[in-house]
Amino acid sequence: MASYLFLRVAVSFIFIVTYIFATDTSSFPKNFLLGTSSSAYQIEGAWNESDKGESIWDWWTHENPNFISDGSNGDVACDSFHKYKEDVKLLNDLKVDFYRFSISWSRILPTGYANVINQEGLNYYKNLIDELLANGIEPFVTLYHWDHPEIFERMGGWTNEMMVEWISDYARIVFKELSPKVKYFATLNEPNVLCEEGYETKIKAPGKNLGSPGVFLCMHNMLKAHAKIYHIYDEEFRKHRNGTIGIVLPCSGALPKYLNDTAAVDMHFQFKCGWIAHAIFSNTGDYPQIMKSHVAENSKLAGYPRSLLPELSSEWVQYIKGTSDFFGLNHYSTWLVETVPRTKEQEWYAYSGVKESRDPSWPKAASKWLNVVPSGFREIINKIAREYDNPPIYILENGFSDRCCTFDYLRISYLHSYIKAMLLAIYEDGCNVQAYSVWSLLDNFEWSAGYTERFGLIHVNFTDSNRKRTPKWSMDWYKDVIATRKLNFTWELPTIIHI
Ligand SMILES: *[C@@H]1O[C@H](CO)[C@@H](O)[C@H](O)[C@H]1NC(C)=O
Ligand SMILES: *[C@@H]1O[C@H](CO)[C@@H](O)[C@H](O)[C@H]1NC(C)=O
Ligand SMILES: *[C@@H]1O[C@H](CO)[C@@H](O)[C@H](O)[C@H]1NC(C)=O
Ligand SMILES: *[C@@H]1O[C@H](CO)[C@@H](O)[C@H](O)[C@H]1NC(C)=O
Repeated sequence: MASYLFLRVAVSFIFIVTYIFATDTSSFPKNFLLGTSSSAYQIEGAWNESDKGESIWDWWTHENPNFISDGSNGDVACDSFHKYKEDVKLLNDLKVDFYRFSISWSRILPTGYANVINQEGLNYYKNLIDELLANGIEPFVTLYHWDHPEIFERMGGWTNEMMVEWISDYARIVFKELSPKVKYFATLNEPNVLCEEGYETKIKAPGKNLGSPGVFLCMHNMLKAHAKIYHIYDEEFRKHRNGTIGIVLPCSGALPKYLNDTAAVDMHFQFKCGWIAHAIFSNTGDYPQIMKSHVAENSKLAGYPRSLLPELSSEWVQYIKGTSDFFGLNHYSTWLVETVPRTKEQEWYAYSGVKESRDPSWPKAASKWLNVVPSGFREIINKIAREYDNPPIYILENGFSDRCCTFDYLRISYLHSYIKAMLLAIYEDGCNVQAYSVWSLLDNFEWSAGYTERFGLIHVNFTDSNRKRTPKWSMDWYKDVIATRKLNFTWELPTIIHI
């Protein structure tokens, strides 16, 4: 009897101890990966060196400097093409587990096509990867971050279905050359942003205004391209390092403007995040049913003979379904959403019948699209987990913009509150988040905002020909988070103010 009691006490004790440790919601789970992210055009510079070909961003910024708020471009950017060793040194100082960067298609294939492989361009990436590995940092390679060769844009870019073949040829070469040393690949970065802002609203290269039909076509072809790249990796290269590959989607949060309007939240999700995600991560595949019917109805109302949302054949539906080993999530901010009537003449998004707005009380970053709403982050992680059977989620971008300064309290405050929301999603809601990456290591070329909005943990002086790098306070803060694998929940945060 006494030994039985002892056993019970001992067992309870073990349970209590396990419980305390298991619910230490401020520590990152075991094997959780922490990193920082970047992209080729935003940091590399050397736009016309190493026999690199011209990309749509080279072309667009040179032809249309007026579309960039400071008239700048990425010709030099952070000059990481020449200074990559210094970048890796900074990464090593941070002690990140991984570094996400992208490959410039036109640096590896100057003609765009797979007929000429540029060894010098390839060597840049091989050297970068070797440098990372020598410092114990896993390279996380994005194949495509919005910078395809300009020659293909002249043939219609993502509205031309041949892009699926051209990018597959490029991907196969990257896998052949790099997959023996790379464990993590991302196929395409944020198709939604490129298709909307590049083919409808002229905010990004290629700067076309093709209306909603252009956006629908672009998304359709990017989805197919993603699936094809995945299958190439899966069938021909995965064995090299038993690596992992997936897509990266931009999913904003959505909170109902009126508490009873939860339908708006779901509709917003299906039209934005779900557009591509449903085809890849759901059990049924294909575009979300509600999106198919809404777009079909609206297309008919507007007099089109067929839906503007192209149809996926059942072969394509099967081919696309399941083509991502993880859900790559880029997340920055949240919308208030409300249901509104759908009418005839609209941009593609209005077909959803959901209006987006912001709460004026939400703190702001320097980027006008970026409000600080950590609760929206927890919400969207939960929504993805619920919709798609709790897939492994990698947060591959999350960050805050300001206009200056190395004493960046606001960035620290943002990152702290967002990481906390993520940890709560993991521990209290059971979501399967396995990696987190800050955008970005360095201040860099922020697309149409040029160098006026800074996202870096490290300040870069863009008027200094040396592109001097100076760590900000947020770098020290993140370094501490990585070293301790823990967020100090009781830390008194500086109040976020409007800037
Ligand atoms: C490369 O571009 C720069 C401008 O960014 C220009 O000054 C330079 O002459 C170009 N070099 C070549 C080889 O075309
Ligand atoms: C990958 O996994 C397979 C099957 O588990 C194994 O046979 C192979 O040795 C692994 N390859 C590498 C490079 O780890
Ligand atoms: C939500 O509440 C508002 C105001 O009380 C009401 O006008 C509206 O009809 C409600 N909507 C739904 C979907 O119940
Ligand atoms: C940036 O570099 C320029 C040229 O070296 C220098 O004049 C300027 O003071 C630097 N700016 C900052 C913020 O360090």
